[in-house]
Amino acid sequence: MGMKLDLLKSLPTVIRDPKLLEARRKVKEDGEAFLSCMYDYAYFDGDRKYGYGGYYPDDRWIPVAKDIISYYGLQPGSKVLDVGCAKGYLVEALDEFGMNAYGIDISRYAVKNCSLDMVGRIHRGDILDLHFPDNSFDLVLSINIVHNLDEEHLSLAFKELQRVSRKDCFITVDSYRNEEEKAIFEDWVLTAKSHGYPYWWLNKFKEHGYIGDYDWCIWSKGYD
Ligand SMILES: C[S@@+](CC[C@H](N)C(=O)[O-])C[C@H]1O[C@@H](n2cnc3c(N)ncnc32)[C@H](O)[C@@H]1O
Repeated sequence: MGMKLDLLKSLPTVIRDPKLLEARRKVKEDGEAFLSCMYDYAYFDGDRKYGYGGYYPDDRWIPVAKDIISYYGLQPGSKVLDVGCAKGYLVEALDEFGMNAYGIDISRYAVKNCSLDMVGRIHRGDILDLHFPDNSFDLVLSINIVHNLDEEHLSLAFKELQRVSRKDCFITVDSYRNEEEKAIFEDWVLTAKSHGYPYWWLNKFKEHGYIGDYDWCIWSKGYD
């Protein structure tokens, strides 16, 4: 069984603005959340009520990459895959430390808007059908995407992540530890389809044979 790891601890956290929570509630009430679920311009670079409100390159992924490399004892040339990499900023940070890093994402928009240095490293792909042979990577990451799948697809996603890794996997998934965090989560999150308390996820890991490492993404103090 994997371990709960705090590998994203260096990302700056933000307290949710009540006005923005209200705006997101309205997006859902008005049936506009589908715009976010398309993972297109609106989600990454459109109004903040639909998603990131601008998914720009910044240095915050550098310390995350450093912590990941250090924890897993990766060496220059180690092969790392980031599944759901968006525009590939973590891939780029890993590359800067000499990793042989790749990313895939379902979003055409994100892949088309990755940094020019990452062309050839970032490709469009689906976590449910990874186009790599078994045991291709030393480490497979998936930061904040598994919860965007329907519950019936969790099993396949875990299988694919573990199939292409010859060693380690690390995922983060949406969760909440009390009613207050759950209420903020329900207002804030636009794309999550599978989520629960930590024990719910631990049961899913067990049920579907996920033995990699993990962490909870708690949105009352999120980092996006
Ligand atoms: C919350 S964002 C996380 C992006 C990045 N990992 C980060 O932490 O900044 C979720 C990402 O998962 C991608 N995604 C959603 N469903 C996917 C799927 N079935 N296969 C691959 N990527 C997917 C979205 O396009 C989006 O880039």
